[in-house]
Amino acid sequence: MRNLQFPMPWDSIFGYVGFPAFLKPFDGGGWKDVYKVNNPEEFFHAYDQSRDLCMTLQRGVKFKEYFRCYVVGQEKVHIMQYDPSAPFHERYVKNPAPVDPKLLERVKRDAITLCKALGYDLNTVEFACEDGIPYAIDFMNPAPDADIHSVGEENFHWIVDNVAELSEYRWSTFLAGSEPEAATIKPVKAVKTPKSATKG
Ligand SMILES: Nc1ncnc2c1ncn2[C@@H]1O[C@H](COP(=O)(O)OP(=O)(O)OP(=O)(O)O)[C@@H](O)[C@H]1O
Ligand SMILES: [Mg+2]
Repeated sequence: MRNLQFPMPWDSIFGYVGFPAFLKPFDGGGWKDVYKVNNPEEFFHAYDQSRDLCMTLQRGVKFKEYFRCYVVGQEKVHIMQYDPSAPFHERYVKNPAPVDPKLLERVKRDAITLCKALGYDLNTVEFACEDGIPYAIDFMNPAPDADIHSVGEENFHWIVDNVAELSEYRWSTFLAGSEPEAATIKPVKAVKTPKSATKG
């Protein structure tokens, strides 16, 4: 919050983000309190309904591709093509059109980078892609949707298997009697300052 200014410099914020834009909770879900705003009037109308929620304002990405990615253990990524405009049960695209492998590679890499930065072992990261550039627009979902009726059978099995393997890995470390990974970080030894360095 150290960069927070008051009053907010709205004109420069609107100039920076542009319109249309999305005003939404930083950690929302189920499209709750998500507003698409086309001008400052619409923005303030939405803002005035946001109560004490912590909101973010994002540029509206004119996306061609849209991906929702499961990320497990900050290393395994399952990329799902997603159509947010489809009815609820058809959003996870069943027979997706082929996508540039380079774009998928970047989506995978960026999803891992984000989860490492956030420290999330489980997450869904959503990317809206415009002109071949993936923009992460929704990436704080540590309890992601994994309902078989919504994600479909294949995605459901992927997430169940990979989360099961993740916990197996962690527990087996304890059961084997060896130290868990975190404990292997060596304590930093105090470095003695040579006398010569303190002179003067
Ligand atoms: N910056 C953006 N650019 C373009 N579209 C956006 C943007 N932010 C949100 N949207 C649209 O609004 C929808 C809901 O936004 P978002 O995913 O952030 O909310 P949510 O409450 O987490 O929804 P869900 O639970 O479905 O993920 C997105 O699927 C997308 O269609
Ligand atoms: Mg979302």
